[in-house]
Amino acid sequence: MSIEENRLKVYVETYGCQMNLADTEIVLGIMNKSGYSPTQTIDDADVVLLNTCSVRDHAEEKIHQRLGVIKKQMSEKPELVVGVLGCMAERLRSNLIERHNVDIVVGPDEYRKIPQLLEGALSGSQGIGVRLSRTETYDDITPFRAEGVSAWLSVMRGCDKFCTFCIVPFTRGRERSRTLSSVVSEVEQLVAQGFREVTLLGQNVNSYNDGGSDFADLLAAVAGVDPNLRVRFTTSHPQDLSDKLIDTIANHRNLCKFIHLPVQSGSDRILEAMNRTYTREHYLALVGRIRARIPGVALSTDIIAGFPTETEEEYRETLSLMEEVRYDGAYMFKYSPREGTPAFRLGDDIPEGVKTRRLNEIITLQQKISHEVNQSVVGKTVEVMVDGASRKSDLQLSGRTGTNKTVVFPAGPFKPGDVVSVKIGRASSATLFGEIVEDFD
Ligand code: 5AD
Ligand code: SF4
Repeated sequence: MSIEENRLKVYVETYGCQMNLADTEIVLGIMNKSGYSPTQTIDDADVVLLNTCSVRDHAEEKIHQRLGVIKKQMSEKPELVVGVLGCMAERLRSNLIERHNVDIVVGPDEYRKIPQLLEGALSGSQGIGVRLSRTETYDDITPFRAEGVSAWLSVMRGCDKFCTFCIVPFTRGRERSRTLSSVVSEVEQLVAQGFREVTLLGQNVNSYNDGGSDFADLLAAVAGVDPNLRVRFTTSHPQDLSDKLIDTIANHRNLCKFIHLPVQSGSDRILEAMNRTYTREHYLALVGRIRARIPGVALSTDIIAGFPTETEEEYRETLSLMEEVRYDGAYMFKYSPREGTPAFRLGDDIPEGVKTRRLNEIITLQQKISHEVNQSVVGKTVEVMVDGASRKSDLQLSGRTGTNKTVVFPAGPFKPGDVVSVKIGRASSATLFGEIVEDFD
């Protein structure tokens, strides 16, 4: 048997945000070093790990159900080791062992312990690692990335904002940043490996600070690695999006003109109750400054419907803010009470039916706005980085603009990562459709 065949196989399912996708690659990096090989199929796995999300109750329910299904498979394969990672591991701790009899439970700051905990699990003892850290950034770990053209790279971890609805500050702990030099050298390696796009990640990426450099410095340094590398970042808190950062984005061609800027609500009273630290007026002024300095910038947002005590009038202020900003896109959610957060104590007084109606109206409005915004691109030629075959047909390719819009066009002799010019002929609320007019590299 070769060494490769001897290695135990690990299968990871990732749920939730992009941070979790990046964390899964860190976990696989740690496990690869300790003699495990990743596998894409659960059936030949020796170890199954779920990297989980706690942000809303629905996300947690999905995991409980999935664990139930996996446990059934476990009964036919008693030697299979099952673990829970991520925010649910941090929040529910030993409850996960009690409820699902899983073997290991590991929170976001203890991934270095996974090999040791697995060793215990393989010899029959269950293990937990859920201590949060003020310093862990996994700076020295080489993530195990699938081949491709787009890479995730987490540059800071944790969140100190304590929005009253959010569980993240409790499951991911305090903010801490990697050093600029380690991020830049990882980006240099990514470019050497053929990656053409990198997304810098953090729960609150704008508050990146390594003691000497802020997020604008980091973005400028990463943009300088290779002018042909597309650089994205997410997610931004409005309070920390500085004018220096806006200028940095404006001044670098390869920094994508796309900002995800969660607003959550259009009502000052609700923003205050959420502890968002800005008013509607501040937020709109920030949007104004961004648009004035970065022509053609695309904006997206997160919106919560039915925060405790939200009146009909306050909810309509969210609609009017959406009309005012005219976002390119939005992620829209019903408020979900999370035990342990300050908002939890306010109760959950908006009836489910009212939340659903408000959310549906918010979604309908955003679809209308996205559709209209996308019509303004019809007739124009845009630069598209090819992702691969479109979801619907092999005869068509799909890619994204710098403004993060999906573009579908007839297949040609292009490979993922190529940048092509596409003239847009029509647009829906989610997709632009067009023809290649010229390719350039
Ligand atoms: N209920 C609903 N949505 C939430 N989010 C975070 N916490 C909650 C919650 N308790 C949303 C916010 C945030 C996004 C990642 O998830 O809009 O920006
Ligand atoms: Fe949660 Fe607010 Fe931090 Fe975002 S900024 S992770 S919503 S606490």
